[in-house]
Amino acid sequence: MTRIVVVGSINMDLVTVATRFPAPGETLLGERFLTVHGGKGANQAVAAARLGAEVSLVGALGDDAFGTQMHEGLRDEGVDVSHVMRLDDCASGTASISVADGENQIVVVPAANARVTPAHVEAARELIAHADAVLVQMEIPLDAVEATLRLGHRLGVPVILNPAPAQKLPVDWLKLARYVTPNQLELATLLGADPAEDFRQLMQRAPCPVVLTRGAEGAWYREQGEPAHQSSFKVDVVDSTGAGDTFNAALAVFLHEGLPEAVCKACAAAALSVSKLGAQGGMPALTEVNALLAQQAS
Ligand code: RIB
Ligand code: NA
Repeated sequence: MTRIVVVGSINMDLVTVATRFPAPGETLLGERFLTVHGGKGANQAVAAARLGAEVSLVGALGDDAFGTQMHEGLRDEGVDVSHVMRLDDCASGTASISVADGENQIVVVPAANARVTPAHVEAARELIAHADAVLVQMEIPLDAVEATLRLGHRLGVPVILNPAPAQKLPVDWLKLARYVTPNQLELATLLGADPAEDFRQLMQRAPCPVVLTRGAEGAWYREQGEPAHQSSFKVDVVDSTGAGDTFNAALAVFLHEGLPEAVCKACAAAALSVSKLGAQGGMPALTEVNALLAQQAS
């Protein structure tokens, strides 16, 4: 069984669905409201578990009702939560998400996620040492991200850095990642470049292997030389929240099959994930990914 460790955020997603986004100062009547489990770290952990991996999550929850619900939710998905701290006198992270026409707008309040530390990552050293791959994103403090990159590098375990949400990082950190998986804006931000610059040029400039996600236009990947392309799988988009998380999880789970195969399966898994509402809503099981791949091949 593939062993994955995810270091990252856990949020309750407060989702409103409307026919369009409100303008500043406008009040709009929406169609639906739901609270669903999210956060980039938790999403990637759940997606990897559904794809059949043995998954441990390193993160933090508050001592509130959301924290209890999400702790149980992760356990129900088969995710090992022994390194998920429950913090006293602290709220759990939330994300207020507006969905309109398959697009989203998100405001994250980190709360407990802001209290993940390098020591907390270090405490998971044994788990990380035995992992096939580690996933980390940027909704936790950057010193904890750095600690994850350094520990993985020291132990010879591949770390996939999903640099979301977009922030600039020291170039040296990027060299510690086995793969960095930005979208175009995130890649430009990482490199301190103009987001309008051609993405192939941006990829060539990165000091590390890059897997770049382009939504409906699929993904590009480059270890050295020219970037290669993987097309997306056509689906009806209900809610794209969590598509990137599903992509990253699948990339980590299938990495041992080689990069082109892993990117192909990651695109298939991400496509399936957007067909349902909520970040974890459409995240597919391995059988669903295989069925989509078989259907495309026939
Ligand atoms: O990547 C999607 C996630 O980003 C959502 O679940 C939300 O919690 C935000 O963190
Ligand atoms: Na979804």
